[in-house]
Amino acid sequence: MRDTDLLAEALDRLQREFSALPCYTPEIPGESRMADVLGEAARRLGDNFPYFHPLYAGQMLKPPHPVARAAYALAMSLNPNNHALDGGRASSRMEIEAVREIAALFGWSEFLGHLTSGGTFANLEALWVAGQMAPGKSIVASEQAHYTHSRISAVLKLPFVSVGTDARGRMDTTELEKAVAAGNVGTVVATLGTTAVGAVDPLAEILELRRKYGFRIHVDAAYGGYFRLASNLASDTQRAFDQIGSADSLVVDPHKHGLQPYGCGCVLFRDPAMGRWYRHDSPYTYFTSSELHLGEISLECSRAGASAVALWTTQRLLPLVTGGEFARGLEKGRKAALVLDNIVASDPRFVSGPAPELDIVVWAVRGSTVAESSERAQEVFERAAQGGLHLALAHLPARLFPDGNWSTEASGDNPTGTVTCLRSVLMKPEHLAWAEQIGERLRQAV
Ligand SMILES: Cc1ncc(COP(=O)(O)O)c(C=O)c1O
Repeated sequence: MRDTDLLAEALDRLQREFSALPCYTPEIPGESRMADVLGEAARRLGDNFPYFHPLYAGQMLKPPHPVARAAYALAMSLNPNNHALDGGRASSRMEIEAVREIAALFGWSEFLGHLTSGGTFANLEALWVAGQMAPGKSIVASEQAHYTHSRISAVLKLPFVSVGTDARGRMDTTELEKAVAAGNVGTVVATLGTTAVGAVDPLAEILELRRKYGFRIHVDAAYGGYFRLASNLASDTQRAFDQIGSADSLVVDPHKHGLQPYGCGCVLFRDPAMGRWYRHDSPYTYFTSSELHLGEISLECSRAGASAVALWTTQRLLPLVTGGEFARGLEKGRKAALVLDNIVASDPRFVSGPAPELDIVVWAVRGSTVAESSERAQEVFERAAQGGLHLALAHLPARLFPDGNWSTEASGDNPTGTVTCLRSVLMKPEHLAWAEQIGERLRQAV
C-alpha cells in the first residue's frame, strides 16, 4: 500500500471523529495555483543527493518510515502544539507514551523526559539542568564529541574542557581522570556513538571515575542510542550500552535512527525531581487541565505535536524490543559497516580507520604524506559521486590511521595533525544488500 493511500484512509477516519461539527468552507488563499507551485517545489527538490537510496551512503541521513511520514501528515490536518494540553491534548498523551517507551529501552520507569526539536536542543536542556545542579563547574567532553557541546557550554556560560581520545576515537579515560582530579568538573559528557567515527566512549570506566570523584554523567546517544537494541555489537561496545541506565541524563534522537522526520530529539533525566528546574508559570496556557502540560517540563514553548504522533505510530508498528523488526534494521546497518570495512581493509590503496563500533566506517586513501592522502580522498569522494555512490568526508586525527605510516605530529606537511578521510554511514537496512555494490563502486572510484 502506498503511503498516500494509507494517509487518505487515515484522514478519512480522522474527519469522522469531527463529523458532528457544522460544515464550513475552508478559505485557502492561492488555491487555484497550488498544483503549479507544488510542482515547482518538487522540481527544486530534485537538486539534492538521493538520500533515500542505498547508494547514498554518506552523511547521517535515514529516510523516515512510511508510517511515520503518513502519521506526521495526518497530524498536520490538526497541527497540534505539544506545549500545552490546550493546543495538543491527544498528541501530548501520545508523546508521554512514546517517550516512556524510549526510557524503558534504557531501563528507566521513573524518569523525566520529553521530545525536543533535535539533538542539539536536547543536549542543551541536559547541560542546562547540569549547570543548575553545579553552577560554574565545567562540562567535559572528548575531542570527538559533537561540536555543539562546546557551543552549548558557551551559551550556558559554563567552562568547557575537551579531553583526547584513544586510537579508536573513544574518550581517553587517563586524560579524563587528570581533568576531573584537577577539580571543578560538574558534568562529563560520554558520547555513545560519536558523529564522525561512531566511537562509543567507555562508559563503565567513566562510571568508575564518577564513583571516585563525583560528577554528573550526561550520555549523548543522539546517534547511537537505539543500538541498545542491537545484538551484534562487539563486547566492549555492548558493555558501554549495558551501563547507559546509570547516566544522570541522556539524549537519543528519533530523527536519526528512530525512523522519524526531522524535528524529533529526546532528552531524559533519570531523576524525575529534575522537573523542579523547569518550574515556571505561563499566563496564557495550562488552563484546560490540571494534568501535566509538557511545556511545564520543557525549555521550548511550541513543539510539533505531529512529531509525537509520528513517533508514537512508528513505535506501535515497530516496538523497541530486542530481536524485533526495528532492532533487525539496526543490526543490518552494523553488518553492512563490517562488510565495507573488510572491503577497505583488503585493498592496499586504502588505509583502515578504527574498526566500526556501530554503522559508520572511516578510511583514508594511501599516500606518502597526510597532504597527499587528503587530496586523494577528496578525489575519490568526487569520482565516487560521479559514479553514483555518495560518500562523506571527515577531518580526523591522523593517528586514528596508524597504517598510514605518516608523521602524525602536527608538522609542515600536516599542520593540524588531521587527515581528510572518507566516511560512510550505513544506516539504512538496505545497505547490507548493497554493501558489496558500494565496495565495487568505491574500487572503481579509486
Ligand atoms: C552525537 C551527536 N550529538 C548531537 C548531535 C546534534 O543533533 P541535531 O543535529 O539533531 O541537533 C549529533 C548530530 O549528528 C550527534 O551525532
